[in-house]
Amino acid sequence: MIDEFENPVLAYDNGQVVLYCGDAVDELSRVPAGSVDCVVTSPPYWGLRDYRVAGQLGGEPTVAEYVAVLAAVFDEVAPVLVPGGSVWLNLGDSYGGSWGNYVADGSTAVRSRYGSHRPPQQKHRAKDLVGVPWRVAFALRDRGWVIRREVVWHKPNARPESVRDRFARRYETIFELGRGQRDDTETAAGPEVWTVSADRTGLNHPAVGTREIARRCVRLGCRPGGTVLDPFSGTGTTGLAAREQRCRFIGIDLDPRCHEIARQRLGLAGERS
Ligand SMILES: C[S@@+](CC[C@H](N)C(=O)[O-])C[C@H]1O[C@@H](n2cnc3c(N)ncnc32)[C@H](O)[C@@H]1O
Repeated sequence: MIDEFENPVLAYDNGQVVLYCGDAVDELSRVPAGSVDCVVTSPPYWGLRDYRVAGQLGGEPTVAEYVAVLAAVFDEVAPVLVPGGSVWLNLGDSYGGSWGNYVADGSTAVRSRYGSHRPPQQKHRAKDLVGVPWRVAFALRDRGWVIRREVVWHKPNARPESVRDRFARRYETIFELGRGQRDDTETAAGPEVWTVSADRTGLNHPAVGTREIARRCVRLGCRPGGTVLDPFSGTGTTGLAAREQRCRFIGIDLDPRCHEIARQRLGLAGERS
C-alpha cells in the first residue's frame, strides 16, 4: 500500500480502492481518461458547512462563484468518464443570509469550533431561496452535460429547523447527468422521489453520506466490476456502496483525516501494499 504518510497525494492504492488526497480539480488530472463508469458525489453545499480544511469549496461569497468552481470540477470529470457513463450529483439548497453551521463572524464560537476558518461574507438577499441545485445543473448543461433526470431525496428524519416563516426543508436534489444518452435503457424506469432516512453514523465528519442513497446510484449507474469515482469522497460512503456492487472505487478528498476514516470503514486501515 502507498499511504498518506509516504505520499501525501496518493493516499492509498490497493488496486480496488484508490484514494487521492488533494483538491478535486488537481487530483482528477491523475485519473486516466475514459476509466470511470459512474460518478456518485455530494460536494460541499453552498455556505452550509465548514469542513475545517484549507482550500475547501462551498464558502464562496456568491452563488455564481460557487457554481463556477463546481463547473470547473465537472470539466475535469468529463474526460475521465466512459462514453455513456453517468454522474449522480447530490446537492442541497440554501437561503440567503443563512450560513448553516457556519456561525456569525466575530463570535467566540467561530474560534473555538473552527479555528481560523471564518465564514465568508455572503452576498445574497436574506431569506431568499437561492435555487443552488438547478443553477449548478444549468451551468453544467451549458458546458455539455445532459440533465438525464432529477430525483428528489425526501428525508423523513431531516433535522428540525428553527424557522417560523417558511416550511422546514426535508429534501435534497440528486441529478443524473451524462455527456450523452445513457447506455442501459432499463435503468430509466423508477420513482422520482426516494424516501430514505439520512444515516446517523456518529463519525467525526460533518456530512457523512447515506449509504442507501449511494447504493441506489451505484446500482443504477455502474455495471458490476466497473469503476465508481467520488471526487468529494469524505468518509467513503460511495466506496462502501461500490464495494457492495463489486466495483472499483476512486475517492478524492482534500482532507487526509477523511481518508483515514474511509479506510477504516472499508476495512483497509492497517493494510499495506
Ligand atoms: C458533503 S462532504 C462528502 C461526504 C461523503 N459523501 C461521505 O459520505 O462522507 C464533502 C467533502 O468534500 C471535501 N472537500 C471540500 N472541498 C474540497 C475540494 N476542493 N476538493 C476535494 N474535496 C473537497 C470535504 O473535505 C468533505 O469531506
